[in-house]
Amino acid sequence: MKKDLLKLLDLSAEEITAILNRADQLKYEKKHGIPQKYLEGKTLAMIFEKNSTRTRVSFEVGMFQLGGHALFLSGKESQIGRGEPVEDTARVLSRYCDGIMIRTFGQDEVEALAKYADIPVINGLTDFCHPCQVLADLLTVREHKAVLEGLKLCYIGDGNNMANSLIVGGLKMGMEVSVACPEGYDPDRQVLDFAGSDPAYQFSLVRDPRDAAVKADVVFTDVWASMGMEEEKAVREKAFAGYQVNGELMALTNPGCMVQHCLPAHRGEEITAEVFEAHAEEIFDEAENRLHAQKAVMCLLMEGV
Ligand code: CP
Ligand code: NVA
Repeated sequence: MKKDLLKLLDLSAEEITAILNRADQLKYEKKHGIPQKYLEGKTLAMIFEKNSTRTRVSFEVGMFQLGGHALFLSGKESQIGRGEPVEDTARVLSRYCDGIMIRTFGQDEVEALAKYADIPVINGLTDFCHPCQVLADLLTVREHKAVLEGLKLCYIGDGNNMANSLIVGGLKMGMEVSVACPEGYDPDRQVLDFAGSDPAYQFSLVRDPRDAAVKADVVFTDVWASMGMEEEKAVREKAFAGYQVNGELMALTNPGCMVQHCLPAHRGEEITAEVFEAHAEEIFDEAENRLHAQKAVMCLLMEGV
């Protein structure tokens, strides 16, 4: 049966580890000029109903490096934008391509696409989650800290797609996860239920960012207004005013604490320019690791199928 990557909730810790290990191997091969045409002759359709820089470029470059081809379909310019049902798009693309990557609004759209497609579907961001980003994040933290288990992951800001995926990914990998969100901006109920589903999971949702940051080994943040929430910008700026990753907050963390940001970043809002620049190497390693993590996902889903 074909496999998809729709959300981290669907993956076991072993499957996440397998992706990270394959990503390490692919990164090593790339850096040492070792051929890696594992997806020769295969095509990935990339559907974008929201903007992107990293996701588009890293999937397209990744597919090229693996010997395959990626094609860009903008929601607006394809028939999707004119209302063709996702069930039909799924069955048509299955006749031409070997995999589909989709970035869209509703998680239900991605799930429907996967249900009707005969080929693997990869979630490149929905309002609910951003699994590819968090696989790259886990890869980056593991590279810098050698392990994930036992580390404290802190997330400051909106309980959005990034928060949802970080909570699930971090807990599954044995990290302590502490999230600070203003009231009314909590992570998704399904994710909070997951976090409460196993007494072994060390999870806390707090209102004061300082409580989340204490003794953290890695601090994450993300924009206050995600794509599609542009009209809420002013209201959100007020709600999130105290939720900034700044020098004062970083002073509470463990020595050598990392900072990660999926990007794009809004300096002066969720993160200060000083903290961003002090951790720029880690943040751009994180951006680079999108490429390696997604190549691993594509190989594991599309190789030999
Ligand atoms: N982090 C991320 O997904 O970036 P893009 O929106 O540029 O793809
Ligand atoms: N939360 C952000 C992530 C962008 C990569 C958004 O959805 O816009």
